[in-house]
Amino acid sequence: MSSRLSSAAADATEYDRIAVTPIAGALGAEISGVDLSRPIDEAAFAEIRRAWARHLVIFFRGQTLDDGALVAFGRRFAPLFRHPNLLTEGPYPDIVRIRRMPGDTQIVGEDWHADTTCMPQPPSGAVLYGVDVPPYGGDTLFANQYLAYESLSDGMKALLSRLTAVHSDITVAGPQAARNRHRTNKVREDSDWRETVSEHPVVRTHPETGRKALFVNKSYTQRFSGMTTEESAPLLGFLLQHAARPEFTCRFRWERGSVAVWDNRCTLHIAVNDVWKFPRLMHRVQMCGERPV
Ligand code: SIN
Repeated sequence: MSSRLSSAAADATEYDRIAVTPIAGALGAEISGVDLSRPIDEAAFAEIRRAWARHLVIFFRGQTLDDGALVAFGRRFAPLFRHPNLLTEGPYPDIVRIRRMPGDTQIVGEDWHADTTCMPQPPSGAVLYGVDVPPYGGDTLFANQYLAYESLSDGMKALLSRLTAVHSDITVAGPQAARNRHRTNKVREDSDWRETVSEHPVVRTHPETGRKALFVNKSYTQRFSGMTTEESAPLLGFLLQHAARPEFTCRFRWERGSVAVWDNRCTLHIAVNDVWKFPRLMHRVQMCGERPV
């Protein structure tokens, strides 16, 4: 039995309170047997966390989460992270409403990325809840960055171990990015906006699993530290393409009431921009993370 098959089979027996069904070879599992709108006891939540660490992104179906329940569920993982650029509405400033409307030509998250890596301590993860989803399209893809790292040659791993990279929000927010005229979701474009820049290792070690993951993404990583953008482009371009190879990915088909929880430290994700005639509304909270090392 291959190690991937044996680990999927092992999954069925390792949980008492939830059922866990992998959806792809690389990452991603659906979890059933839990109502996220009600208090989750410690034993059940420990199993959810274990499934999250193993599968990197976990999905739930048929949930009904009002704003209070979404915030409460996110807080079980870590204190919530307040987004620096996306404008929020209403009494829950930790909730970002990711909305696309017919006529939008751009959307939030339309390139492969980890969230908000311009920050010195990027979020550890996010919970995304499907409020209004199109009848088809609008899927989200995820990519396993442990596998992206582990499949590199020893020579490339040695080279990357010495590199850090500059992450910035210069292309996703602020007046120069000019995103707001293309989409319903608004980011800060005011004159007080300032670029946020952080340097992170190109390979990070996950603080809970101890595994190494590739940590660059198209939305935020500008260049390698100590190199120009042009000098960085060939290797960075290779890594960005490698990171999203199909065999490292899974694809999630949304239904109203679906929930995804991803680990932002070892995955990338992309929102597929393929539905122009239907509205789509998702509610998202992000969990605080640590400085990547
Ligand atoms: C995101 O990048 O967090 C949004 C993903 C989505 O809307 O599918």
